Amino acid sequence: MNKVLSNYLELFDVNYYYKNKLENVEIFKNLNLTIYPGEMVALLGPSGSGKSTLLNCIGLLDKFVSGKFKILNKDYSLLTESEITNIRLNDIGFVFQNHRLFQEFSALENIIIPSLIKNIPFDVAKKKAIQILTYLNLEHRINHRPAKLSGGESQRVAIGRALSNNPKFILADEPTGNLDKDNTLLIFNILKKITLDSEKSCIIATHNNFLAEKMDRIFLIENQNIKILK
Ligand SMILES: Nc1ncnc2c1ncn2[C@@H]1O[C@H](COP(=O)(O)OP(=O)(O)OP(=O)(O)O)[C@@H](O)[C@H]1O
Ligand SMILES: [Mg+2]
Repeated sequence: MNKVLSNYLELFDVNYYYKNKLENVEIFKNLNLTIYPGEMVALLGPSGSGKSTLLNCIGLLDKFVSGKFKILNKDYSLLTESEITNIRLNDIGFVFQNHRLFQEFSALENIIIPSLIKNIPFDVAKKKAIQILTYLNLEHRINHRPAKLSGGESQRVAIGRALSNNPKFILADEPTGNLDKDNTLLIFNILKKITLDSEKSCIIATHNNFLAEKMDRIFLIENQNIKILK
């Protein structure tokens, strides 16, 4: 594996807790982690163990309470708000639990929208979205709205949306939650192809051991920390 130093993610003794009225709910305590380019990592752990919380922090949607967090070789604590926004828009592709596609828009439009938010001209964004849908073998579903897509197709469109900014990290929260084994395998193969083709890092929170076993590494969240199983 090519460990490009400028292109990975490191956590040093990070902590996270939710503040409740009576007490702090501790989720991570002195957690250490390194993720390299081109690797696929499964995040396993029981419901409530903190998988989504970890993805949200890594994906810059939330922040660790303390500790050192380096992303793309930059120290998070030294980043300005606009640098954080830029990394979130340019380098991170999020695939949310239950895909969260825009229901009133077609598959193509769902993939175009993030590019328009970044002020990319419509024609350029459309061409790119068609390429992505073709890459995902969904060219025959371009004009379908999510209600007219199967669960596996919707999840592939959600992956397409995450790919629209050609991110360095794909963060997927339960991407196969409602899918059968064949569709789970299809999603895995797509994510594998994406990480191999473009040296992205792919981090997937899942309850699915079949999916986790196929990854390069498996991290289990246990006792507010991470145990590396593979
Ligand atoms: N806003 C909040 N305030 C307090 N506690 C919270 C809040 N959001 C989440 N939690 C708690 O944090 C813990 C971790 O939640 P998280 O959603 O990260 O777990 P998870 O591993 O993704 O679970 P699942 O497998 O069910 O998706 C849970 O115990 C949850 O109840
Ligand atoms: Mg979750």
